[in-house]
Amino acid sequence: MKSRKEPLSLDELVRLVQSTRKYSTLSPSLVREITAEEASKRTKPDDIIKHARSRLHQAAAAYFTGTPQYDTWLKELAEAGSDKTRVREVCLEVMRRHASTNERLEYLSEFYSAIARHIGKVSSVADMACGLNPLAIPWMDLDAGCQYLALDVYSDMASFFESVFPILGVDGRAVVGNLAEPGEEVGSEFDVVFLFKTLPCLEQVRKGSSLRLLRRLRARFMAITYPALSLGGRDKGMEEFYDAQLANLLDELGWSAKRTDFPRETLYIVENPARL
Ligand SMILES: C[S@@+](CC[C@H](N)C(=O)[O-])C[C@H]1O[C@@H](n2cnc3c(N)ncnc32)[C@H](O)[C@@H]1O
Repeated sequence: MKSRKEPLSLDELVRLVQSTRKYSTLSPSLVREITAEEASKRTKPDDIIKHARSRLHQAAAAYFTGTPQYDTWLKELAEAGSDKTRVREVCLEVMRRHASTNERLEYLSEFYSAIARHIGKVSSVADMACGLNPLAIPWMDLDAGCQYLALDVYSDMASFFESVFPILGVDGRAVVGNLAEPGEEVGSEFDVVFLFKTLPCLEQVRKGSSLRLLRRLRARFMAITYPALSLGGRDKGMEEFYDAQLANLLDELGWSAKRTDFPRETLYIVENPARL
């Protein structure tokens, strides 16, 4: 990268951050927010761009085990077509490519059974900061033709899911969004919103994002998870930290939650009393 020393406008900095393929498909709102914050801490354009990219990497790209191969994955799913066993096999293979879904695979069926036990069958789901989790739809036991909204920060991921949803038998829509953005539209009313391992990421972008987001969600149930794992296995300190964090949020909102522990994450089912 040619060294740049003169000050640049925020628009120019954002354009430069997004000028390589890896960052080009990210939500412009997220890129702008993080670049603006880095520009408020340092002056050299090259430093701003480097730090902004590093934070964007941590927020999103770091979860992938390599460059996502959306075209190949879509081709394999399309070839599997109506062969449900093969569709599941391909979904499992692809979910291994993202750390969050990869970690969940060993207890995937138990995880969705626990959610279904609490909330019953649903006909609309919003999967917020979804990563590759919509590929777990075959394990979710959703109503036929269930509406499924998938939101994350990547436009190429959204295009992939738009093509995949008909194969998975849901009435799906995939959008690019920045959930840390206070005014970001989070959709209409849903039976359940999934917020899996997402709130800590949003807090890193902008403090207070979790509470603002929970206030804006219009869903009867929320299935929220937090990571429970460090390198050594379930981490008591981490669990207690997040448990207290969620308890504070729910206190603010006057909501309560039912907790279920899984080997690598803790699931909380929250019922929104305003929607009973
Ligand atoms: C820990 S992963 C969880 C993925 C998925 N929910 C799961 O558990 O399988 C965090 C996800 O949040 C997304 N993300 C990060 N910052 C975001 C933001 N500001 N708005 C929306 N999504 C965001 C990342 O791209 C990533 O897919």
